[in-house]
This record gives sequence, structure tokens and C-alpha cells, in this order.
Amino acid sequence: MNTKTFHLIDHPLVQHKLTIMRNKNTASKDFRSLLDEISLLMGYELTRDLPLEDTVVETPIQKATCKKLAGKKLAVVPILRAGLGMVDGLLRLVPSARVGHIGLYRDPKTHLPVEYYCKMPPDIEKRLVIVCDPMLATGGSSSDAIGMVKKRGAKHIKLMCLVAAPEGVEKIQRDHPDVEIYAAALDERLNENAYIVPGLGDAGDRIFGTK
Ligand code: PRP
Ligand code: URA
Repeated sequence: MNTKTFHLIDHPLVQHKLTIMRNKNTASKDFRSLLDEISLLMGYELTRDLPLEDTVVETPIQKATCKKLAGKKLAVVPILRAGLGMVDGLLRLVPSARVGHIGLYRDPKTHLPVEYYCKMPPDIEKRLVIVCDPMLATGGSSSDAIGMVKKRGAKHIKLMCLVAAPEGVEKIQRDHPDVEIYAAALDERLNENAYIVPGLGDAGDRIFGTK
């Protein structure tokens, strides 16, 4: 695994909240709000290198040259369903971001992603695109999602996940070496059902209370 494009967010608040999410007794309501809080905290790290430009403002005292974000703003692109749980936290940081959606589900037998929806905002090629999904397991879903946004013109993409398996990180690094990956945990491995071990179970089911 190449550590150059993999960033572990080891902030204590993120780690503490993730531990509560992993607990099988944590209710959907709490799971959802913790994912929302972590997404905001991770988003702070993800946006650390956004480019700035000078702008002149008139303060009550005098004119001052200050900084503002340069160029087009972000696009947040959740992978349905579980990625939806990361959108609001990111939008609280960058309220002007546009939101695209990618519908993918993992076939329960083959574990391969099946595409069912894609809608992107305009000018995607000029935006930093944050593809988000809490789980990077085999990496099939995130790799396909990144391929879909690239096909529509995106040039600058970051992947934000919560829990990653080594297999998933390696797949993204193989398929998309230009994409920076951010995760709150790098877990041990995948089990025979391609679930992350120890992981936190099925993220979509835990967010939405389905089974
Ligand atoms: C989960 C998860 C990822 C994918 C990860 O979604 O949210 O999208 O699996 O697995 P992979 O890295 O092996 O592709 P799922 O297919 O369960 O769909 P859902 O969010 O609609 O429940
Ligand atoms: N999808 C999930 O929601 N959890 C896993 O551990 C793997 C895929």
C-alpha cells in the first residue's frame, strides 16, 4: 500500500466517535448523528489544501487584502445509500458546494457493484469532487464511482471514507493513482462475505434502520 495517497485521520474526536459507531448496540439515530459529526471533522482535513486568492475588503477601519477560496467551489458526491450520511456534515463546512449522486449497490453473491443512478452538477471539471462512502471494502463501488465522475469530466477527486480495508485501498491506488484517499480507520481485512473486519457491519442498514 502506498502511503502517499492514503491519509488516516487520527484526530481523537474522530477516533472516539468511530468507536461508538462500531458498537453493535449503538442505535440508528446515534449512528447517523455520529457519522454526520465525523464527516464535518474529516472534511476539515480534506479541505486543508484548497487554493486561496487575494481579495480586498473594506473593514470598518481601512481597506485590507485578505484571502478567499479561489475558483469554482466543491462538489460532494455520495455513493447511495450510505454515502448520504456524510453529505450534511460536509455541506455545513462548505455550504455552497454542489451535490451529485451515484447509485451503486453490491451484488450479494459476486460482491461486484451494480450501477443504477448518476447525476452530476455542471462544471464538474472545474470543481474539487469529494466522493464519499463510509465503507471501502473490496473497493469495487468506490473505484466504479470515481470512474463515473471521471467519465463526466472530473479532474480533481478525493475519496472520503470512514473505515477502509487494505484490499480496498490497494484497488483505488491501482485503478486511480491520482485520487487521495482519506479514512478514519484502516481495518484488518475482509471476511468471506467481503465485509470489513472488525468494521461496523452494514453501514447503509445501520444508518437507515433497514435489514
Ligand atoms: C456498501 C457501502 C459501499 C460498498 C462497499 O454499500 O456503502 O458502497 O458496500 O463495498 P465495496 O468496497 O466492496 O464495493 P451497499 O452495496 O451495501 O449498498 P447500500 O449503501 O445501498 O446498502
Ligand atoms: N459494505 C458495508 O456496509 N460494510 C462492509 O463491511 C462492507 C461493505
